[in-house]
Amino acid sequence: MKNQPPLWIRHASQLVTLAGSSAAPLRGEAMEQLQVIEDGSVWLEHGVIQLAGTDEEVAEAYRDRLDEAQAIDASGKLVTPGLVDPHTHHVYAGSREHEFNLRLQGATYMEIMNSGGGIHATTSATRAADRDTLFAESSRRLDQFLLHGVTTVEAKSGYGLTLEAELKQLEVAALLNERHPVDVVSTFMGAHAVPREYKEDPERFVDCVITEMVPEVARRKLAEFNDVFCERGVFTPEQSRRILEAGLEWGLLPKIHADEIEPYGGSELAASLGAVSADHLLKASDQGIRMMAEAGVIAVLLPGTAFFLLAESANGRKMIDAGVPVALSTDCNPGSSPTVSLPLIMNLGCLRMGMTPAEVLAATTINAAHEIGRGKQIGSIEPGKKADITIFDVPNYLALQYRYGVNHVHSVIKNGAVVVREGRLA
Ligand code: NIG
Ligand code: FE
Repeated sequence: MKNQPPLWIRHASQLVTLAGSSAAPLRGEAMEQLQVIEDGSVWLEHGVIQLAGTDEEVAEAYRDRLDEAQAIDASGKLVTPGLVDPHTHHVYAGSREHEFNLRLQGATYMEIMNSGGGIHATTSATRAADRDTLFAESSRRLDQFLLHGVTTVEAKSGYGLTLEAELKQLEVAALLNERHPVDVVSTFMGAHAVPREYKEDPERFVDCVITEMVPEVARRKLAEFNDVFCERGVFTPEQSRRILEAGLEWGLLPKIHADEIEPYGGSELAASLGAVSADHLLKASDQGIRMMAEAGVIAVLLPGTAFFLLAESANGRKMIDAGVPVALSTDCNPGSSPTVSLPLIMNLGCLRMGMTPAEVLAATTINAAHEIGRGKQIGSIEPGKKADITIFDVPNYLALQYRYGVNHVHSVIKNGAVVVREGRLA
């Protein structure tokens, strides 16, 4: 990185910086008020953003060094922070298109899971996969994320459900973070499902998560967050609380898959624990939403999952209006949302959750960065932040949502290096 010439992005028809919110996620009307610079320009050096402004301002500031820089012409294009996906289960093996076919014929997600498919099917495949296979399959998905403009993703474990297999999944995530241009931030999710071998005694599995898995994951520093699937038939709010409190004792910050299939107290639990986020929230109660706003819990909304499960989306509009900070994510996983297209999720945020094009951009950059504890490093274009930038071949951010169903990514810059050029991996 040190020896690379500076990169100079020039003449963007719109540069949306999202600057000024590194301390806390955007909420309410602030999510709508984007700073948009026309004829925008960004100077990147040593993997870091040095300056952003109009082309004239940047040219003036660097007037003695303009010849050194490698220029990227962004005329007619939209420049944004590299997109951040704060909720994925992308480290897995196998595929479940046959379940998709069953669901299209009327089977429900929970029926499939309770009859041994769903998360159990992917758990079997992931347990059986060796590290190289798991790495290769997940690395291909990260390539696809990058091609869709995403420069950082969160990754959850939870397809191992034994100490050994959970560690394998998290170690592969750590290796991906090291070797792949996309940054990977890990979350332990041993409480993703009660594995079949504990079917008759789920409490014993909860104890195993608390006494064996959480301490070992924390000791090996393999995750920063701890997540549970709090849903009837999976983990109760009481079990979820115990698991998340155990994580907190080991320094793992809580997140919750909450109120996805029915209202079950997950959003209320997130607020009372001061969780980083509550995710899904299709069926969140009004009281839960109010409590999340008061506690500053981020709502991670996953409209692709609702779309793919033929369900009604979470009410993003209502949450933003209530003052809840909102982030958006693919939920990339083989069962309920096998996509890597965060731009498609943005489209769905507009079309199915009543969010505006400005709000979905805030929700997939700075707010998503805060959700994974990276609000000071990424998620906006301002001096000192990582040089992670996406250039879309559309003239403005409204067009990015309007021209839906097409991958508009033109270039991606990661740590100051061009990693996608004209829509292809560089
Ligand atoms: O977030 N809800 C639980 N976990 C995932 C789905 C996992 C799977 O079906 O494999 C989700 O939707
Ligand atoms: Fe999920």
